[in-house]
Amino acid sequence: MSTSANQPSGKRTAEPRPSLLRTLLRPRNIAIAVIGLFVLIQLVPVWAFQNNPPVLDEPAWDSPQTRALAVRACFDCHSNETVWPWYSKVAPVSWLVTRHVTEGREKMNFSEWSKVRERDEAGDESAEQIQRGKMPTKDFLLIHPEAKLTPEETQQLINGLRASLR
Ligand code: HEC
Repeated sequence: MSTSANQPSGKRTAEPRPSLLRTLLRPRNIAIAVIGLFVLIQLVPVWAFQNNPPVLDEPAWDSPQTRALAVRACFDCHSNETVWPWYSKVAPVSWLVTRHVTEGREKMNFSEWSKVRERDEAGDESAEQIQRGKMPTKDFLLIHPEAKLTPEETQQLINGLRASLR
């Protein structure tokens, strides 16, 4: 097999046989590398952080409805009752999801309420985050359409959180 016939005319790069780089960049080898990398990254043990610790105590919800709305829109990242679907186990998605849940719980965990610092400000802060469209996060809503609240539900959640979080 000679590659000289495949050389662009006019350019005399003069390669007697395919260079190592060319061999490596063959579609088949790229596919093998991509699959190999995909398999390898699954070994990063993020699953060790994909836990649901016991529920200690929750805010004094003003109504079951407020809690239900929070479960829909917030609990996956701000509680110990996270639903971990299959795709949350597959890297690199698992890295992103695990980070969101870990950081979300750190900021405000509805399942360890008495441990949350500045609880008295959580209602106002949550209302602000929701109103500014920051919470729930955009990427979360993409894969969780059920978490998208109607304007009425959004207002109910805001009022409910203001009344419950302290
Ligand atoms: C996809 C995961 C996810 C969901 C769902 C989610 N949050 Fe968050 N939330 C985070 C992360 C991550 C942070 C910390 C990083 C940041 O502030 O952006 C956070 C931070 C916050 C903070 C603290 C903001 C600050 O700057 O200190 C509040 C308040 C909050 N979230 C409220 C909510 C409320 C209320 C809901 C439901 C309507 C909700 N979040 C839904 C992931 C989430």
